[in-house]
Amino acid sequence: MDRTELIRLALEAREMAYVPYSHYMVGAALLTKAGKVYKGCNIENASYTPTNCAERTAFFKAVSEGEREFAAIAIVGGYAGAPKDYAYPCGVCRQVMMEFCDPKEFRVITAVSEEEYLDKTLEEMLPHGFGPSSL
Ligand code: THU
Repeated sequence: MDRTELIRLALEAREMAYVPYSHYMVGAALLTKAGKVYKGCNIENASYTPTNCAERTAFFKAVSEGEREFAAIAIVGGYAGAPKDYAYPCGVCRQVMMEFCDPKEFRVITAVSEEEYLDKTLEEMLPHGFGPSSL
């Protein structure tokens, strides 16, 4: 699974975004160390607070299927049409990544397209994070 394909799957996931309130569509594709991909989209709610981000949808789908080891996540977002800018993961999603991923190894790929992307470690995205090894 290369980075281009993971971004393509994130773009595919974004098509499923349920966003009647913000209209901001986010897609994520989470790659396990074994090479399996779990896709996620954001799912909004009339009560706002229960809204789930695309990244957490992907993580919770994977973890609930027994996955525990992750290599990378690709994230795309924006209003209808092709993404125009990077959609960085929110703080809550970064913290969920911190729970399951090695911050020095796990790659967070934020993309505008298959050709335009940033590829960073979780540690770069969440410096001095608090995770399982802190306890
Ligand atoms: N959103 C995500 O899906 N991921 C993020 O990391 C940031 C925000 C969603 C939540 C909400 O549905 C919309 O984007 C606007 O905040």
